[in-house]
Amino acid sequence: MTLRTSILAGSVLAAVCLTGVAIAQDQPAAAPAPAAAEPAADAAPAEPALSPEATKGRYLATAGNCITCHTAEGGKPFTGGLAFPTDFGTIYSTNITQDAETGIGKWSLDDFKKAMRQGVRPDGAHLYPAFPYTSFTKLTDEDVAALYAYMKTLGAEAAPAKANTLKFPYNQRALMGVWKSLFFKEGTFKADPAKSPEINRGAYLVEGLGHCSACHSPRNFLGAEKDDALLTGGVFNDKSAGGAIRQWSATNLTQHATGLGGWDVEAINAYLKTGLSKRATVFGPMNEVVMNSTKKLTDEDVKAMAVYLKQVPAKEGNSGSAPSKEQLTQGETVYTIRCGTCHLPTGLGSETLGPSLVGSAVAQAPSASTLINIILYGPKLPAPPAFSSPRKQMTPFADEMRDDEVAAVASYVRNTWGNKAGAVSAADVAKQR
Ligand code: HEC
Ligand code: HEC
Ligand code: HEC
Repeated sequence: MTLRTSILAGSVLAAVCLTGVAIAQDQPAAAPAPAAAEPAADAAPAEPALSPEATKGRYLATAGNCITCHTAEGGKPFTGGLAFPTDFGTIYSTNITQDAETGIGKWSLDDFKKAMRQGVRPDGAHLYPAFPYTSFTKLTDEDVAALYAYMKTLGAEAAPAKANTLKFPYNQRALMGVWKSLFFKEGTFKADPAKSPEINRGAYLVEGLGHCSACHSPRNFLGAEKDDALLTGGVFNDKSAGGAIRQWSATNLTQHATGLGGWDVEAINAYLKTGLSKRATVFGPMNEVVMNSTKKLTDEDVKAMAVYLKQVPAKEGNSGSAPSKEQLTQGETVYTIRCGTCHLPTGLGSETLGPSLVGSAVAQAPSASTLINIILYGPKLPAPPAFSSPRKQMTPFADEMRDDEVAAVASYVRNTWGNKAGAVSAADVAKQR
């Protein structure tokens, strides 16, 4: 985390916001139980017939991935209680079933709209942007009403909110009012008449319901997404296997060469639709995005997201200074011994070995934390397996490599074969242990 603490209240809110987007996933046990992780779409046959409006709302809830954040490990769907670890304590998602006391059973459509579009509770309290209302504000009135109709069908499950363990003064919701006045822009999505309906639909899904920027955009020192660097790559904290809180970097999603520049529409589409593409395989925190959300969307909607992403202008993320020659030499040696058998000396990999690291967005992400995680712990693929990959799975190296070796090989793959990104230090690696 590079947050400054000089502006106390603000940076605290920032951190809550910044790290609050985390989803516990790192291993199957940390993820919502499989049953809970199944989006409502799958549970359809067991449910009473839904009205057309509620059916639409159920689909929108899948696109917004409400279930992933609002279901605790082993908990009932939508009853909340999932922990979002932050540097300033832990914030928990809330019960959004129809229970009158502990859920949102008493909320009117207007109350619900205010929460989704303005981040305000019926009693006027501000919500933390760990709940991505900064994206959901783009929802149309019609879609908010459909979501509300679906929420009404969820049944009432009593599940009292877990008390956040944010320290004073971080626990002061009133401070969010200040943050909002500085950074929050309320407003429904405005279609760009110069662009096709498909691109506009993709933009609505990516920027609005899909809240992709919550993880994929850098934040300023007050934790607000940087408007001028949207989708150029971000970081967030996530609870891992042993309960350790680890940083992850989400890649640059613009058309820059360090982002999705080398991906065609088909590759982006396949990745979001199946988790497997010729460019990369889904792993880590993206598992829940793909498995619980994008995979379940219609072919047209996924394609629209891919077409939209393919035309986001190239913009480089800020990844720091280049590595030294010495480090690159060390990195080449480590690469030859540890990585070259699968990713090949050319970095190009093959269909049956490792994927290409040439132009890899994960390798070149502004923050190297995901690259470090994959080297130390191996890529955590979706469980149960979501696709059969012809490739040999990558193994973890945490026990076999020193921090300086991991740093050197990471710097090497970030700066070879035309790749370009900042150096990784042994201290960066130590933080991910
Ligand atoms: C990235 C995680 C995340 C996603 C995705 C998410 N939420 Fe939440 N939501 C939260 C958290 C965390 C809170 C608690 C915020 C707080 O306490 O200030 C919350 C709070 C809420 C609240 C306010 C409840 C209350 O009691 O005050 C509502 C309503 C809500 N979410 C609905 C939804 C809906 C509907 C969706 C899907 C369209 C959704 N959320 C998706 C994390 C998420
Ligand atoms: C919870 C945080 C989070 C959210 C929300 C999120 N992503 Fe990601 N995304 C990541 C991380 C972390 C990675 C890095 C690799 C990984 O974990 O698979 C990533 C990687 C990717 C990649 C590149 C994969 C690669 O290997 O180069 C694409 C494409 C992508 N995300 C698209 C999206 C889209 C589209 C959305 C919105 C629907 C989205 N992501 C929402 C965290 C997130
Ligand atoms: C046994 C073969 C194998 C070895 C050895 C190996 N990898 Fe991998 N690597 C893979 C596979 C396969 C994937 C795709 C995910 C999966 O299916 O496990 C992958 C994925 C990756 C990715 C993610 C690429 C992307 O764009 O999503 C990176 C980065 C990476 N490996 C780096 C390395 C580095 C650095 C080393 C050496 C320290 C290494 N790998 C060693 C097989 C291997």
